[in-house]
Amino acid sequence: MTLRTSPEVGGMGHSIKRKEDPRFIRGKGTYVDDVVLPGMLYLDIVRSPHAHAKIVKIDSAKAMAVPGVLAVITGQDLAEYNLHWMPTLMSDTQMVLPVEKVMYQAQEVAAVLATSRYAAADGAAVVEVEYDPLPAVVDPHKALEPGAPVLRTDKKDKKDNHIWHWEWGDRAATDRAFAEADVTVKEQIYIPRIHVASIETCGCIAHFDKVDGKLTVWMTTQAPHAIRTVFALVAGHVGLAEHKIRIISPDIGGGFGGKVPVYPGYVIAVAASVLTGKPVKWIEDRMENLQADSFARDYHITAELAAKKDGTLTALRIKTLADHGYTDAAANPSKFPAGLFHVCTGSYDLKAAHVEVDGVYTNKPPGGIAYRCSFRVTEAVHTIERMVDIMAHQLGQDPAEFRMKNFIRPEQFPYKSALGWEYDSGNYGGALQKAMDGVGYAELRREQAEKRKRGELMGIRISRFTEIVGAGPSKHFDILGLKMFDSCEIRIHPTGKAIARFGTKSQGQGHETTYAQILAEELGIPAADIQVEEGDTDTAPYGLGTYASRSTPVAGAAAAVASRKIIDKGRRIAAHLLEVAPEDLVYEPGKFSVKGSPNRSKTIQDVAFAAYTNHPQGMEAGLEAVSYYDPPNLTYPFGSYICVVDIDKGTGEVKVRRFLAIDDCGNIINPMIVQGQVHGGLTMGLAPALFEEISYDEFGNVQGGSFIDYLVPTAVETPKWETGHTVTPSPHHPLGAKGVGESATVGAPAAIANAVVDALWHLGVRHVDIPITPPKVWKLLREKGVTE
Ligand code: CDP
Repeated sequence: MTLRTSPEVGGMGHSIKRKEDPRFIRGKGTYVDDVVLPGMLYLDIVRSPHAHAKIVKIDSAKAMAVPGVLAVITGQDLAEYNLHWMPTLMSDTQMVLPVEKVMYQAQEVAAVLATSRYAAADGAAVVEVEYDPLPAVVDPHKALEPGAPVLRTDKKDKKDNHIWHWEWGDRAATDRAFAEADVTVKEQIYIPRIHVASIETCGCIAHFDKVDGKLTVWMTTQAPHAIRTVFALVAGHVGLAEHKIRIISPDIGGGFGGKVPVYPGYVIAVAASVLTGKPVKWIEDRMENLQADSFARDYHITAELAAKKDGTLTALRIKTLADHGYTDAAANPSKFPAGLFHVCTGSYDLKAAHVEVDGVYTNKPPGGIAYRCSFRVTEAVHTIERMVDIMAHQLGQDPAEFRMKNFIRPEQFPYKSALGWEYDSGNYGGALQKAMDGVGYAELRREQAEKRKRGELMGIRISRFTEIVGAGPSKHFDILGLKMFDSCEIRIHPTGKAIARFGTKSQGQGHETTYAQILAEELGIPAADIQVEEGDTDTAPYGLGTYASRSTPVAGAAAAVASRKIIDKGRRIAAHLLEVAPEDLVYEPGKFSVKGSPNRSKTIQDVAFAAYTNHPQGMEAGLEAVSYYDPPNLTYPFGSYICVVDIDKGTGEVKVRRFLAIDDCGNIINPMIVQGQVHGGLTMGLAPALFEEISYDEFGNVQGGSFIDYLVPTAVETPKWETGHTVTPSPHHPLGAKGVGESATVGAPAAIANAVVDALWHLGVRHVDIPITPPKVWKLLREKGVTE
């Protein structure tokens, strides 16, 4: 299906030169839950009410008496096939179904297989499980105290709840810089556990065909190829070889990182289908989704920043406790257990930095997914932007001037950060200046001063983020040993139409549109003549999938490289047709012409036809190419966000009055899609800043397990976003493009938090943890004697 959008939204600003209409948008429209197969069976999951408990007995007699119920599957059943545990992406282990004890509230305890969804649900409701409750460990600080109950009793040598210690940077140089600093600031920052809350929950249909021994799984996954490999590695011993597994990821209703891991429901559905030979469907309901999977953040951070008297920043020191729940199932590259948190020096020319992170087990579901974030970059940006703001306040300097003074300057790129990253390109001052001009910064500051005299609470503040997206390079980045490259395979048919397949998987980011545009621009074939496909492991080339804004930096580059291979071959075919040497041809998209004789030319369509009908002797027929692109570096998009808030003294409510986002993702492929990405991302940044949090009581009961408590902002709570961009191309990307999908989610929370603290600083408030809810602010205002 091809959709065309209204004329006023497309064509803004700078974009890659193209012949195609930038408003051209494509989409499909089949969700996993839409797949219905003859004879399909349904799964429903029995979940634990306890956060930590021994399983004494599971009685399935009543469930088996429900008409339509075929089986109750327990951990004991899976243990017979050694499928009751599975590996996580961080090489830890996760239960599929428990045999001895449960580790978090809402954990899967048993599964009911039935001939209808209703029968499965009725059966699950009457499975009787007897538990023996154990003390729950909820606070990661307490989890590390001597005498805390050891949670992972399945790990024989484990004597505590500490998972790993990881540190990066030069400790001695950092300590020295702090000892020599004129000014230091220190803050405890908690970045709470949040949930992606995508429109569709997780689910799958597993279909094992006993005749040909092939398993097909329609699955809500952002990384179908990697999942196929994991399935083959985990279930190879029960006869599932990789060539006999097909993963199909149709439209999945949003992913945001939550659909990268393998969850128990997928594995149970596969096991049930292999055992019965029937298709088995498992679809989570909303509360299961909110309580059991797709969690992010949960970082307890202690940060310190050092500066000279004149405001020159010198060093950053961070210690963090990472609450992973009962297993480390984070979606991080293997080498970096704390993801890319060490991009925490941000946009500033800091000479020394040291960061330490400790992973901790608690009685919570696994967390640590890369929620619209390149593996902990949101945590890094929030930390540095809060700290820089606190330092600016402390020194009594304007936050914009303070940042301008400390930015990495354009001539310093490529820039090696104190924590070892090589930033590719940037013009940080230019973007901030554009944001200040756009929002009317000086005028707003005047307004704030007047309002403060009248006792009104207004804040205006900045977040200046540098992102890091596009993993590989494969020499540094792998997931479970799978190197992080990505792929594009192009086939040009004889009549000049094309099909292009990718190792990535769009979840609504519009790859069908933007990839077609890249190919159209490179090959000169109209985008409407190009079929773009992703998400089917039987047809698409191997790739690591879509998350962490890696599609444009990696697969987008693969599209350009594969196109250029086609052009190389096309040039030789055109030379044969025109009876000249290949070097005598000039190429412009879609046309090869003889130098100096532009009328002597062949189109890409002529060339495609000749590739199958009249190719030169000795050349293989066909016009196809594949690129497995391994980027030489990550890309470093950036942005300058300015937020203006007003705080209601009576209720503590924070109102975002203005929010201007200036983003820079290098060369833009489709301005309308980029603007859509930024708008959605800003709302997903507003959400944790003001509303969303998954918290637990002292017994491990989840407090945000439904949309009554987990406050996803609607259009009513969302301000009118103002957006714009600058363009600083990436020097190493074939198209000069950088990723953009997560920029706004990463950059927005700090701008909002900084603006709130700015409104309250004169009252003695130094920091407020997100989400900044009305009760939290109201309590502060009462403490400061502002409100009754
Ligand atoms: O990996 P993911 O698709 O989430 O992130 P991305 O590479 O940042 O791309 C998000 C969407 O924005 C895709 O459709 C891209 O092609 C598009 N985009 C663009 O048009 N220009 C850019 N410079 C970056 C992304």
